[in-house]
Amino acid sequence: MTIVQPMTPARSGTAEPGYMTGFGNQFETEALPGALPIGRNSPQKCAYGLYAEQLSGSPFTAPRASNERSWLYRIRPTVAHWGRFERIDAGLWRTAPCAEVEMPIQPLRWNPLPIPAEGITLLQGIRTITTAGDAATQSGMAAHIYLATRSMVDEVFYNADAEMLFVPQQGALRLATEFGVIDIAPGEIAVIPRGVKFRAELPAGPVRGYLCENYGGALTLPERGPIGANCLANPRDFLTPVAAYEDREAPTRMLVKWGGSLWAAELAASPLDVVAWHGNYAPYKYDLRRYSPVGPLLFDHADPSIFTVLTSPSETPGTANIDFVIFPDRWMVAENTFRPPWYHMNIMSEFMGLIYGQYDAKPQGFTPGGFSLHNCMLPHGPDMDAFEGASNADLKPHKLSGTMAFMFETRFPQRVTRYAAELPERQAEYGAYGAKLRKHFDPSRP
Ligand SMILES: [Fe+2]
Repeated sequence: MTIVQPMTPARSGTAEPGYMTGFGNQFETEALPGALPIGRNSPQKCAYGLYAEQLSGSPFTAPRASNERSWLYRIRPTVAHWGRFERIDAGLWRTAPCAEVEMPIQPLRWNPLPIPAEGITLLQGIRTITTAGDAATQSGMAAHIYLATRSMVDEVFYNADAEMLFVPQQGALRLATEFGVIDIAPGEIAVIPRGVKFRAELPAGPVRGYLCENYGGALTLPERGPIGANCLANPRDFLTPVAAYEDREAPTRMLVKWGGSLWAAELAASPLDVVAWHGNYAPYKYDLRRYSPVGPLLFDHADPSIFTVLTSPSETPGTANIDFVIFPDRWMVAENTFRPPWYHMNIMSEFMGLIYGQYDAKPQGFTPGGFSLHNCMLPHGPDMDAFEGASNADLKPHKLSGTMAFMFETRFPQRVTRYAAELPERQAEYGAYGAKLRKHFDPSRP
């Protein structure tokens, strides 16, 4: 594989070589000097004999704040990277609506899925756990586990149904995209917008992680309101790759997910052939350890929305199609307060995973790589050990260290797939954890 990628200087001291800093910027980058036209998008002839192509992530007429598009200058336009597509088996990948099994209403939790021994690519290793909403109406999401043991070779993929949020839990992932190369490892995330072609490579062996398919509005930074101009996820910490391309005339399999089905066609050349691009519709990565958490300084436990990294807005302000929320290292200082999350029921439904460490509301049974589902209006909260421990703890300032849990939270109920329902890793007894909580009520003791 030949990837031509110039090294850009680390201007702010924070950018790694090969990335540009900022969230949703109007970026511009070229792998060959002068490949980008100046002052126009579509000259009569592009430099180097390139084709100009616009990729629009929003309708043309979307308001400026949500208008997303990029101009790509490529060896061949996508229409030339095309062929006779045939529908192929999508394996364990499911798309909403998907009502293939009816689960009893209860909290659900699973142990980590083992990485298989056989050679599977990331696309072959996507196992859908839940789906929500309806991909065809561009609302809702799916939560998956990905497992892979080998790189995609002579294969490129794009997803017409969804934006893809990768949350690695084990192993490094290289996403060679049309826009450039993104490397991520546990503790980092990457977002590949809808329609962006990429190949997933495994530079350091087998991988496991979580994947959210977002059928709705593109993930963006949440409003900060009275928090002000800083903290939470700061825009400068997001990294978008510089242009990189391959000029490779070799049989390449193009896979496309469209309408919930997987399609494949044979191409004569690699479509990762974008020599230069500009615009604000591009893949990016972010290191979750750069998140600056804000929380209660005196008493009580704030709503978990205070830890939102990215949000996919819906038509109703404040009612997210998806919130991506993390529970990172942080100090617990609240006085006279039950410090873990409180007991609650919520209209939003919560798919939760643990990247590393221990989650404070569930110190046992929720292990890195595991996952849980607390669905729309189903009760949940700390288990007995967490409740008894936190109710009797000496409330000194305490640091939660070496931990990173997260939620894919959506306004829609999440439906479990048949695969997830039947997994031997599902903890059959988890639904009864609440029954172990003891009665403490004593009317004679205020
Ligand atoms: Fe919750």
